[in-house]
This record gives sequence, structure tokens and C-alpha cells, in this order.
Amino acid sequence: MKLSSAFLFRPLLISVLVGSIATQAQYASGQWSLVQDGLSGVSALELAVVSETTVMIFDKVESNPLQTNGHVAWAAELNLVTRTVRPLNPASNTWCGTGSFLSNGTMVSSAGTAVLIVPVGENGLASIRLFDPCEDGKCDVIEDQRARLEDGSVLLFGGSWDAGVINNPTIHNPTYEFFPPKNIHGHNGTPIYSPFLQNTLNDNYFPFVITLPDGNLFIAANTQAMIFDWKTNKEVRSLPGIPNGVRISAPLSAGATLLPLTPENNYTPEVLICGGSTISDDLAVWKPGILSSQTPTSDQCVRMLLNDEGIAAGWQVEHMPEPRTMGELILLPDGRVTIVNGAHTGFGTSGGIVRDPIGLSDSDHPAFTPVLYDPIAPLGKRFTQEGLPTSDIARLYHSTSSLTPNGTILLAGSNPNLDVETHLYPTEYRLEWLSPPYMEKPRPTYTGLPKTFDYNAKITLDVDLPAGAENVSVVIMDFGFATHGVHMDQRLVGLVSELSDDKTKLTVTGPPSATIYSPGPAYVFVLADGVPSFGSKTLIGTGAQPPLDEDALANVLSSLPLYWDKWTAAHPGEPVPVPSATSA
Ligand SMILES: *[C@@H]1O[C@H](CO)[C@@H](O)[C@H](O)[C@H]1NC(C)=O
Ligand SMILES: *[C@@H]1O[C@H](CO)[C@@H](O)[C@H](O)[C@H]1NC(C)=O
Ligand SMILES: *[C@@H]1O[C@H](CO)[C@@H](O)[C@H](O)[C@H]1NC(C)=O
Repeated sequence: MKLSSAFLFRPLLISVLVGSIATQAQYASGQWSLVQDGLSGVSALELAVVSETTVMIFDKVESNPLQTNGHVAWAAELNLVTRTVRPLNPASNTWCGTGSFLSNGTMVSSAGTAVLIVPVGENGLASIRLFDPCEDGKCDVIEDQRARLEDGSVLLFGGSWDAGVINNPTIHNPTYEFFPPKNIHGHNGTPIYSPFLQNTLNDNYFPFVITLPDGNLFIAANTQAMIFDWKTNKEVRSLPGIPNGVRISAPLSAGATLLPLTPENNYTPEVLICGGSTISDDLAVWKPGILSSQTPTSDQCVRMLLNDEGIAAGWQVEHMPEPRTMGELILLPDGRVTIVNGAHTGFGTSGGIVRDPIGLSDSDHPAFTPVLYDPIAPLGKRFTQEGLPTSDIARLYHSTSSLTPNGTILLAGSNPNLDVETHLYPTEYRLEWLSPPYMEKPRPTYTGLPKTFDYNAKITLDVDLPAGAENVSVVIMDFGFATHGVHMDQRLVGLVSELSDDKTKLTVTGPPSATIYSPGPAYVFVLADGVPSFGSKTLIGTGAQPPLDEDALANVLSSLPLYWDKWTAAHPGEPVPVPSATSA
């Protein structure tokens, strides 16, 4: 059917035919479904899959129904099988923090905010929290300087030392640092100044940072992008700005992802950024009562291949079927991108900065229908909403989403309120599960995945393929860490594999290098004609802890009072948040 309409309307007959045939063979056809099932207990402001059966959810300290140790909980572990939650016990406020995974599989949650509502917990502003995922319901969040001592390989970029609807010169923190701290660029563990963060004010909360196969970083914020070498602290290449004046960072939030890195594309990186807004980031415009929750957002997606030719060609501009802010770009194991959550109008802020808030929401017209993007389809044929189910649950500010190991997409959260609210748009605890058509197909299964899977190592999986399976391949995925539409570290890397003649053994070669896939957790999917297996978890690399520099750590801890002094000076009369031994 699709092929015949392509025949009629496309002048480039040959390339369309090839594209469409590949698409038919590559993706499972059939029905999508959307099911609402389970409650998150705390509102899902930050979310990350941490094991084959569990998901970590962080909220801010607020009047949640879930209780722990006689007070409200603001973190929970969701069980993907029972769809129930268990409260966790961080000591400090995780509001607007971020997260990532270390090479040994431990999750690091960093930063947060002072406690503003319910008087439990500590100021989370400069906190580091560690969580060792488990499947026995016994693990919890640890806030401990000594834990911080031991771990690292995470780069923390940008932010502010106080809360603000939009970043600005008064509160911004135009620096980056490492966890564990490194003695580098003449900074013994302490934050390193970034001119890019200075130059991208004011719209530069939650910049996009992506590790590239050559070891450099792609960094984008506001309307700018660059390639950055963290080892020399140099911008090695300035990239073309985002076309048409579209701003892409929170609160004018777009979503972004690295597209699949595969042996077929020679692991050539290509980024996709969708949505955002053309509204000014001038502070005069961001005074209360000027902007409107009805302001249109952008339908622009931009995409660039990050090699010489791609950069010379610049951003390729495409348009989503609908405009969107705060959307999340979720990679599917089959290489496509699903755009979920967010709003068609307004901003990624809350608290009624606009003149016409809905409750405290500064956005309106929730995006109820996901969009599917096929990166290998011909230009103009990549987006579709056909067959994608429409929800009636708004997922606005502070909503999250992730692919799960079984291949469904979990939709969670939304809370554009200071505390728990029931008016439109309420604090949202209901979970939804979006299932692509492959969920209904006979699935490939496999056994034999080792606990660690090293670079270029060969492993052999015992596979059980659906009858008649022809195209068998393997991908590893990092599902990332979701917050504010930014899906940090999300990645899909194709591996080289070889199927035995009797189709029962699949020999798989580990990723080529640590810059193609950073050491740490990965979920391994065997795909048969576009239908993925369950994604079992392994650790890419050896599972070793990242390097630790004791001296740099001691130095950064002793310089922390600087932050508290700034914060307390800016909050006269407010109770001083005591940086205890547990919040570093
Ligand atoms: C086989 O599947 C892989 C992964 O989905 C895809 O990249 C490749 O293009 C497919 N090959 C054909 C011939 O469809
Ligand atoms: C991983 O490393 C961190 C820091 O060195 C440590 O706190 C944590 O316990 C380690 N996790 C595991 C599973 O060994
Ligand atoms: C994964 O999804 C399939 C449906 O495709 C279902 O039958 C199975 O129980 C799920 N497995 C887990 C572990 O959730």
C-alpha cells in the first residue's frame, strides 16, 4: 500500500522503492497499544531503568502518598514485572538533579535543590548519591562522601547554584567537573570554566552532551552547538547554529538523541534534535505575566552527520506533524525514534511565569499522541502518527519516559506544581506502557550472556529464533537517564554478529571501543526481522570502577563551602541548609 502511494507521488522512484522495501523487511508491522497500569508513588521527575526488572524514580520532596520511615518518600523503585513501587531513602532533595551510570554499574545521581516544601531531607544542591541496582528489593540510595571518593567517569556540565525559571548571569554555574574528580587543566578536582556555557545564556539548562566515537563530546545548548575535547579543555570545532532561531534547551526544551551507531554506518555519529521554541530568552521577556501558556512551540527537527561532509552540509531541517516542547526522543531496539510526552504550546517551566497559567502549568495542549521517526526512510517520509495510540493523560513539565528491557516504552510523571495538586494539570502518578507492534510477535529468545562483555571480545549466545527468521542482528542499548526531556547517555550501538548454519548459535563481537560505547550497563537485544528479544543486562568493559584521584577529591570537598556561602547570601532569613557529612 505504502509502496503504491510512493510510486504515485515521489519523483525519485528508485530510491523510494529501495527505502520502502528495506523498511518493510526491517520493522515488525501491526498494532501499537497503550495501557495504563500501576502508580509511581512519587511523581516521576527523573527516571532510569536500573536493572532488567527495576526502574529508579526520583521526585522532589513533596506531599506524596508513598511514605517511608514516617515521612513522605521522594524516591522509589518500580518493579517492571509487578508494576508496584518500593520507597527509597535518599537523604537530600533530588529536585532537578541528573544522573548517569559508572563503569561498574552503579548509578550516580547528582545535584538537586534546597528543600522547599515538606521539611524532611537535606538541601540537595551539591549532592552526589549512589545506587547499586539490585533485584531483591534490598538496595537503597547512599549519600556518602566516601562513596563519592571511589567513583567517577561522569562529566557534569552546566547548571546553576540556585533555582530560576531560566538560567541567568546571577545564578548560573558556567563550569563542568568530573565524578570522581580529576586533577586536570590546572583544576585539582574543582569546576572548570566553560566559555560555551557563558555564551549560551540564558536558555541553557540541561545542555545536550553526547560522547562521540572519536572521544570528543557533542554539546548543544540554546541555539548553539560545538565539538569539545574534554582532555584538552578546547572547543575543537564550532558547529552551525540551530536553524531558524529555534532554541532547544530548557525551559524552551527540545528533545535530542544520538541516532544508532552501527557497523553499517561505520559508527558515524549523527544527532537528532526535535522541538523547542523560537521565543526570546531575554530576561525582560521572562518576567512574570508577559509570556503565554498558549505560545506556539516549534515543529522543527534538525539532524546532522558529525563528520566533515555532514558538518559542511549543516543541519538538515525536518518538520514533525505537530509542534512540541518537552518531548522525549526514545530509541527503539529496531533503530527508530519515538517522540513522546510534552506540550504543543507554552514552556518547560512551572510556577505561573506566564500571564495565563493552567493551575501552575506554563504549558498547555498536552501532546497526547506519540510520533514515530524512521531515520533511514527518505526525507519527507520519516514521521508518522498513523496507528500510534492517543492518551488522555497529560505529560507536561517534570514528566519522563524510557524504553524498558522488554521493549515497551514507559511513560511517567508530570507535575507542573510546587507540591502535590489535583487541579488541571495535576501531580501525575499513573504509569502508561506504550507497546510497539513487535511486542505482539513471536519474540527471539537467547541465553548465555555473560555478566561483563569486553570490547572486541567474542561471545556465543544460544538463540531460539521465530520460525522463518531471516535478518538476525544484535544491538546494545543504554536507556539513559530521563529528566526535563533530556535523555542523558541514551545510545544504540549495533554489534557485529554471525549466525551458525543451524541458526541456534549467534557469535557476537563486543563494541569496538570505549568511545563508541562507554564502559557500564548495556541491554542486549537480538533482533529477528525487526522483532527484538528481551534485552538482558550486561556490563560493557570489565566492570571495574573508574579511576580515583584521592587528592582531587579531598580538594573539591574542602572547597564546597563556596557554594553554601553563595546560596545563603541569596536567601537571607531562610534556614541555612547544613551541608552535613552526607551531602557533598
Ligand atoms: C536487518 O536488520 C537490521 C537491524 O534491524 C537492519 O539494520 C538491516 O538494514 C536489516 N537488513 C535488511 C536487508 O533488511
Ligand atoms: C561501583 O563503584 C562505586 C565507587 O567506586 C562503589 O561505591 C560501588 O559500590 C561499586 N558498585 C559495585 C556494584 O561494586
Ligand atoms: C515481555 O513481553 C511479552 C509480550 O511480548 C510478555 O509475554 C512477557 O511476559 C514480557 N516479559 C517480561 C519479563 O516482562
